Amino acid sequence: MTNVVAFSSALRDRSSGAHSGSESAGFMTDLIQGRGSRDDYIALVTQHFFIYEALEAATERMRRDPVAAVFISDKLTRLPALEADLEFLLGADWRARLEPLPTTRRYVARINQVGAAWAGGFVAHHYTRYLGDLSGGLFIGRLMQRRFGFETNGIGFYLFDDIANPKAFKDVYREQLDAVPWDDAEKERVIDEVLLAYRFNTELFEDLERAKRAAEVA
Ligand code: HEM
Repeated sequence: MTNVVAFSSALRDRSSGAHSGSESAGFMTDLIQGRGSRDDYIALVTQHFFIYEALEAATERMRRDPVAAVFISDKLTRLPALEADLEFLLGADWRARLEPLPTTRRYVARINQVGAAWAGGFVAHHYTRYLGDLSGGLFIGRLMQRRFGFETNGIGFYLFDDIANPKAFKDVYREQLDAVPWDDAEKERVIDEVLLAYRFNTELFEDLERAKRAAEVA
């Protein structure tokens, strides 16, 4: 069967409902609309640290895979920026102060699992995070900058210094998605994994909301 719809378009169309779900999670809309606190922002950066630690360890393993390697670019690497942001936000003992939330633990376990052996699954997680970071992420970074008075310290995660033109970068990424040598069944599995990645992100916002409420009554 020939694919009439480009894979990158199918992926975007099939995940747009899940994207809206993530985007409209209460914790996220609060942050974006100015109701979130600096501590809420720090709680989000903390969870990103665990997610990108796993994703970028998987990236190192996947460099040897010919299909996955096409998507890998050092320009995307976020972990050093997250480490610097956390040191700025929490101080020198930042590492000892981090705790993953339950959804983050499950998200990380899944990234580790697919990142060890399944290129398609790895690409699904890679796509969901980095294309999101290069889309809504850029806008969120600018909002956080304004809201909390950050210059570059504290929001380094959102600054892709080596990607001058995010749109062009994403266009190339989508062309690479369209060129992957996967059959239809594998493409379906990858779409399912993208939906799972979105679910983790939405549930993470729910965890963050729950943790925030628990801290408020404590
Ligand atoms: C309030 C939060 C968010 C906003 C405002 C937002 C906004 C956007 C916008 C405007 C685009 C389209 C950009 C374009 O057409 O090039 C986009 C794309 C995307 N977003 Fe989000 N987003 C948010 C949250 C998320 C989350 C939590 C994820 C998942 C981790 C995510 C993943 C993606 C992905 C993967 C794309 C690329 C879709 C594609 O073109 O294939 N976004 N986002």
